[in-house]
Amino acid sequence: MSAPILEVTQLQVAYGAIKALRGVSFSLRAGETVAIVGANGAGKTTLMKALSGMLPVAGGEARLRVPAGELQIGSVGAHQLARAGLLHVPEGRGTLRQMTVEENLLLAWEIRPCSQPFEAAVQAVFERFPRLNERRTQLAGNLSGGEQQMLSLARAIINRPQILLVDEPSLGLSPLLTQEVFKVLAELRDSGVTTLIVEQNVRRALALAQRAYVLAQGVFIAEGPASELASDPAIVAGYLGHGSAH
Ligand SMILES: Nc1ncnc2c1ncn2[C@@H]1O[C@H](COP(=O)(O)OP(=O)(O)O)[C@@H](O)[C@H]1O
Ligand SMILES: [Mg+2]
Repeated sequence: MSAPILEVTQLQVAYGAIKALRGVSFSLRAGETVAIVGANGAGKTTLMKALSGMLPVAGGEARLRVPAGELQIGSVGAHQLARAGLLHVPEGRGTLRQMTVEENLLLAWEIRPCSQPFEAAVQAVFERFPRLNERRTQLAGNLSGGEQQMLSLARAIINRPQILLVDEPSLGLSPLLTQEVFKVLAELRDSGVTTLIVEQNVRRALALAQRAYVLAQGVFIAEGPASELASDPAIVAGYLGHGSAH
């Protein structure tokens, strides 16, 4: 088997004296969709930010292996990681609210050089997200929460991700919009986009992913095939009971 695209070994991340990640290890192979699930405050966003170069690494290491080469996360900037194809869809979407849908896509597209002209790239994205095409001249700030999440995903996809990091795409969305967003994520999975997703919506994330890890207070407390975790009595009791549905 080929070496993993992403290999994380005993990664630690701290905010001053607060250790938010206390040594997590995992890897992702090309084409896999892997979920990291856990409650609010478990350290999910911290992990995503560290992997995309937005937070310093306090211990351990993370390596990205893409056709452009091998990069040591923590030693290179966020911009360089994005140019190598590690694309982060942040918690809270991160769209530019005062710019149109099209301007948002253009600014994203400029991050990663590509021989394809913008108009062709944007057309390919609009085929996947027809609603964004209808809204292409509207301000991102005027889109619904679900449409903003689609735009945030589109901003990453327009750059042909080697690996997509998706942070809590269901946050603040109705069950119906959550379902729509996860449908797009399933299409990406089926087309072979390597994806790491973190979610509080454990049920949805386990239905999407092939493998999963359960994060609690900065460490993994369980891991395995997503379908097995979804039927594990301890996971069902802790994360899939009443109030955690949709
Ligand atoms: N900027 C920050 N400064 C200090 N502590 C933080 C900061 N951001 C997050 N934390 C703490 O780190 C822990 C993990 O947070 P986070 O990664 O946001 O969790 P999750 O995304 O799983 O909800 C929490 O205890 C949180 O309070
Ligand atoms: Mg978070």
